[in-house]
Amino acid sequence: MPAVVAHRGASAAAPENTLAALRLAAAMGARWAECDVRLSADGVAVVLHDATLERTTDGRGPVAARTAAELAALDAGGWFDAAFAGERVPTLAAVTAEASRLGLGLNLEIKAESAAAAGATADAVAPVLAAWSGALVVSSFHATALAALRETAPALRRGMLCRRRVGTAELAIAHALAAVSLHADRRAFAAATTARIAAAGLWPVAYTVNDAAEAARLWRAGVATLITDTPDRLLAAAPP
Ligand code: G3P
Ligand code: MG
Repeated sequence: MPAVVAHRGASAAAPENTLAALRLAAAMGARWAECDVRLSADGVAVVLHDATLERTTDGRGPVAARTAAELAALDAGGWFDAAFAGERVPTLAAVTAEASRLGLGLNLEIKAESAAAAGATADAVAPVLAAWSGALVVSSFHATALAALRETAPALRRGMLCRRRVGTAELAIAHALAAVSLHADRRAFAAATTARIAAAGLWPVAYTVNDAAEAARLWRAGVATLITDTPDRLLAAAPP
């Protein structure tokens, strides 16, 4: 993963997790984007952050209660700005196709509301991603999702997501899952933590960093990749 990854696309300037946000990230010079993937009621992998539709679409209720056809009919752009009205909730397949067109690598984060749903989501995502030839890391807060991927699609690189705690237990889980990277909240990265992650052979990734001075501090401290809503701002501050 490069030094800068666009969080949910260029999500400060376009509606998150839409094709428009991917296009804007690429136009800003980002080489990778992070997107959140979850399942529709009929088992289609779609790209949307929340478990419910209200915040980022004109729909209502749980995403998992809607079919892919119902989700495809929603507006996922107008909430952000009228200029983006008509943007859709993309399927994972639409996101990988657009990323190929744009030359973007992807960090796909598996979202689910239970361990069982996380496993099912991993099983649905795996064949779509195995058919994609772009640069990829699949991450999740759910160890179940990463363990399922390790079984069904071991060639897909896995990243373990943590919140603010990165201790011996978290590193042991990452090792057991044969993860390549460890993604943690930006506030987790005391110098000793970064060194511990790197010493464990894991690529240190921090989310979500939108401040250029903080970004410079984290890069200097050895954090390899920063996930940001403002890729334009961080790319301007990134080391060569
Ligand atoms: O993948 C990093 C980050 O996206 C995790 O948190 O809530 O923004 O998906 P969230
Ligand atoms: Mg995410």
